[in-house]
Amino acid sequence: MKTAAIKIRVLVINGPNLNMLGRREPGIYGKETLEGIIAGLEKLAAERGVALTCIQSNNEGDLVSAIQQAEGTQDGIIMNPAAYTHTSVALRDALQAVSVPCVEVHLSNIHAREEFRHKSLTAAACAGQICGFGAAGYRMALEGLLAVIGGARG
Ligand code: DQA
Repeated sequence: MKTAAIKIRVLVINGPNLNMLGRREPGIYGKETLEGIIAGLEKLAAERGVALTCIQSNNEGDLVSAIQQAEGTQDGIIMNPAAYTHTSVALRDALQAVSVPCVEVHLSNIHAREEFRHKSLTAAACAGQICGFGAAGYRMALEGLLAVIGGARG
């Protein structure tokens, strides 16, 4: 009897205003929509045997709840906390409250922008941060996350 391949489960969390991608400041964030970015990520995920669950919310509490619910149900998280990166102690605490590894991603190079974007409250609770590579950063984040998950398992 054939046993089904066990898929790695990854939760992809996108924060406020990322539903506006494609129309929102394209000179900074590019012309690709969030749906387009997720479609590209889904292709890579399929090649790597990863099952993605993708959410976007403009509300901080939704993001906190999604992180909490990842405990025991997801193997890893890719998160673009958007503006909450720079303000949210609640998101940082949620990441620290679960044992699921997270890779933080930003489309833009936050370190080359306004000073208030240089500081990420969430990055210290993540395995790593990728920024400045546009949509490709999400695929890099998945590769990085798989390395972290593989290392933890292997
Ligand atoms: C962002 C960078 C944040 O500073 C900003 O608030 C965003 C998007 C990015 O992907 O580059 O909304 O997270």
